[in-house]
Amino acid sequence: MCGIVAYIGKKEAYPIVVKGLKRLEYRGYDSAGVALLDQGTINLYKRQGKVANLEAFTEGKNINGHAGIGHTRWATHGLPNDVNAHPHTSTDGKIALIHNGIIENYGPLKEELMSRGYEFKSETDTEVLVHLIDDIQKNENVSIAEAVRLALHSVVGAYAIVVLSKENPNQLVAARKSSPLVVGIGKDGDFFLASDATPIIEYTKRVVYLEDEEIAVVDLNDGLKIFNIGNQEVTPYVQQLEMQLEALEKGGYEHFMMKEIYEQPRSITDCFRGRMNAAEGWVTLGGIKEYEQKIINAPRIIMIACGTSWHACLVGEYLIEDLARINVEVEYASEFRYRNPIINENDVILAVSQSGETADTMAALELAKSKGATILGICNVVGSSISRITDAGSYTHAGPEIGVASTKAFTAQVTVLTLMALSLAHKKGSISETKFHTLLTELEAIPEKVQRILEKNTHIESIASVYKDATNALYLGRGSSFPVALEGALKLKEISYIHAEGYPAAEMKHGPIALIDEEMPVFVIATKGTSYEKVVSNIQEVKARKGKIIAIVTEGDTQVRDLADHIIEIPETDEHLVPLLATIPLQLLSYHIAVMRNCNVDQPRNLAKSVTVE
Ligand code: M6R
Repeated sequence: MCGIVAYIGKKEAYPIVVKGLKRLEYRGYDSAGVALLDQGTINLYKRQGKVANLEAFTEGKNINGHAGIGHTRWATHGLPNDVNAHPHTSTDGKIALIHNGIIENYGPLKEELMSRGYEFKSETDTEVLVHLIDDIQKNENVSIAEAVRLALHSVVGAYAIVVLSKENPNQLVAARKSSPLVVGIGKDGDFFLASDATPIIEYTKRVVYLEDEEIAVVDLNDGLKIFNIGNQEVTPYVQQLEMQLEALEKGGYEHFMMKEIYEQPRSITDCFRGRMNAAEGWVTLGGIKEYEQKIINAPRIIMIACGTSWHACLVGEYLIEDLARINVEVEYASEFRYRNPIINENDVILAVSQSGETADTMAALELAKSKGATILGICNVVGSSISRITDAGSYTHAGPEIGVASTKAFTAQVTVLTLMALSLAHKKGSISETKFHTLLTELEAIPEKVQRILEKNTHIESIASVYKDATNALYLGRGSSFPVALEGALKLKEISYIHAEGYPAAEMKHGPIALIDEEMPVFVIATKGTSYEKVVSNIQEVKARKGKIIAIVTEGDTQVRDLADHIIEIPETDEHLVPLLATIPLQLLSYHIAVMRNCNVDQPRNLAKSVTVE
């Protein structure tokens, strides 16, 4: 949560910082603010709400400065108002600071600072940091970088910070622990700092991802220097970004979410490109290859994730257990980390995360690592924290996902998990050659089938118009379509604010059936496969209570067509791959319903893309 961005160099900082904030707005949009150093003065501009509010506020003002820091907030401590917006400044206005994370011991630190005369303007945890740095600098008579380093020794919690000091006009000081921070090395001796590479990409491709408890000093005279918190200098590891700028733009679509839904034929292809070949009959996930035997020998794989990524894990559980016959448990990272789980050295922990920054998933991995388990990751964001702390892993290669509601990242996660299940099964010998080849061939055909579903968009939009005013919705599925039902319900509730629940279809009669009346839309995944007849019976049960059925069916189905109020046909595929197809119409339905309800599809209320607080 929260996006931070900073610039120092010869250019005007404000346009760069504001543009960067817009790129990071998916991380939080409760308030936005900037601080700019202009002729020895730090000027502060902050506004509640989106970056657009900040821009309206600054319009017509003469804003200058070669050094600037900016922040877009997802509120944790204190209301989302102008005062609590970042940057926060020292009492004398000489230091300004932006922060992403949570200072857990801010209470005692605040008391201590107040007892020594510091007055607090905001209700944030962040403000303690700026006063603490100021206090240390004055009392210890040290440089701003050293004051930051010493202050961080007293801090418990997570932080990515950037500090601007008017006494050091050529310098920015930054640090991170458990919250991401990237340094961009500009072409003109200038520097960029940001929560992720998206604000940096159009200026430079040379970046350094800071590690936990590292402090970076970017200085227009001395360049980039990195120290660890113990004050030892660290050699920066400069990486070349591969991201393309077009991936960060809407490309003619009204919303990022729609663009990302439509990108799925390509993102799924990118995900399996070079990792499988049906004609030649092979599959390999290079990132985890050397761990495969360990996974096969493991007593169990524990998959940990949150939200949509947790749904992908549930699909993965079905695939890996069924094809590779390895015991899989799926855990919410937030529950796993706090319930004293039994973890053994032989266990394999697999974290799945789009952002690679989710605080609970990170913490669960750290716990598993401390118990000696092998920790693996499936992430979308290259260079993210989870991808760096894991022993090995695979990227999903879906490209940047900007819409807060996850779409293409989910199908890419399921694709990687399918490849993993197939690779493990083949190596273990738990799958026949015929089945292996069938599944590879079917998987290669998925992007084209996704494309065919996308071509039904107008039909799906017309169904959405019937249910746009619903207040509740049920989503039902069996087997690996149960997680698809969960994901469909999550998509609807998070962007349209309609209450929705996903259930295994057979569980409906143990409670949720009481909710069904003629007002209740019930979305059912009723594709051909093992449980088809059972799902048909569940549909009958809904119809008997006058519920409205919207069914996702296999092309050519006639049985459900006769029962349902609406059907959406999807191409036939192997049962194991149905989640990759059945998800698509549910994404489109949610999208259209949200648009028809005038909801902010890309930035739903109260949410943020990257949940870096627990
Ligand atoms: O970045 P992650 O995959 O770890 O994020 C997990 C969840 O926060 C995320 O999937 C969330 O549920 C999305 N809003 C779903 O659309």
